[in-house]
Amino acid sequence: MLPPPGPIPRHVAIIMDGNGRWASERRLPRPFGHRAGMKAVREAVEGAIDAGVEVLTLFAFSDENWNRPAPEISALMDLLEEYIAREVAELRDQGVRVHVLGDRTRLTPGGRAAVERVERETAAGEKLSLNLCISYSSRGEIARAARLLAEEVLKGTKKLEDIDEEAIRSQLYTAPWGDPDLLIRTSGEQRLSNFLLWQLAYTELYITPVLWPDFNRRTLRDAILDYQRRDRRFGKVTAS
Ligand code: FPP
Repeated sequence: MLPPPGPIPRHVAIIMDGNGRWASERRLPRPFGHRAGMKAVREAVEGAIDAGVEVLTLFAFSDENWNRPAPEISALMDLLEEYIAREVAELRDQGVRVHVLGDRTRLTPGGRAAVERVERETAAGEKLSLNLCISYSSRGEIARAARLLAEEVLKGTKKLEDIDEEAIRSQLYTAPWGDPDLLIRTSGEQRLSNFLLWQLAYTELYITPVLWPDFNRRTLRDAILDYQRRDRRFGKVTAS
C-alpha cells in the first residue's frame, strides 16, 4: 500500500481496546480476543513502517489491568512472551527497535527475561521504534519522574529552581522519542485511560469504532489521512 500522500505523523500512539468485546461477539473466552489482538499488533507495525512512521507506542497492559482475573492476566503475559519469541527475528530484520516502558519489576522472571531479550536483540533497529507500554500508568510515570527529580535535589545534583517542564519531560519513560503526533483509540471509547497524560497535551486524537483485533494497516492509513486534514496550532493562531 502506498504511504498516505501528505505529512506523516512521526510518532503514533495507540490504545488497543476491544479485544474482550471482539471475543464475546463470537462467544469465545476473552483470551481469544487478546490472541487475535496480537495479529493486529503485527499489522500496526507493518503499516507504520510502510507509512514512514518513526515511533509507534502501544498500550499493551496497564497498571490497572493487574486487577483483572488471574487467568486473564496470565493469558496476557503468556501472549506477550509468545509474541516476543515469535516475532523477535522478524522485528530485527524489519529494522524495528523495541523498548518496553513501565514497571517491569511486576513482571514474572520469564516475562522480564523476554523483555530484556527483545530489547537487546533489536537494539540495532533504525527504521521504527516500537514502544510497548506494559505494567504502565501515566500517573505512575509522572510520580516516578517527580521522585527521580526529588532525589537529585536531595543529592544536590539539581537545584529546586531547575525543576521545570523540561526537567519533568526528561524523566518520563518516553523522553527519547518526544510526544505523539497522533493518538488512535480503537473500540469507540472516548477516554485516555491513564495513558501518556503529559505527552498527549497537543496530540491529535483519532477514535475509531473498529475493535482492536480487526485493526489493520488500512485502519492506520485512514487515521493518518484524517490526521492530515487537521490544523495543528499548538495553542497559537494559524499564520495567514
Ligand atoms: C484491551 O482490550 C486490550 C488489552 C487489555 C490488552 C492488549 C493486548 C494485546 C493487543 C495482545 C498482546 C499484545 C502484544 C504487544 C503482544 P479489552 O480486554 O479491555 O477489551 P474490552 O474493552 O472489549 O473488554
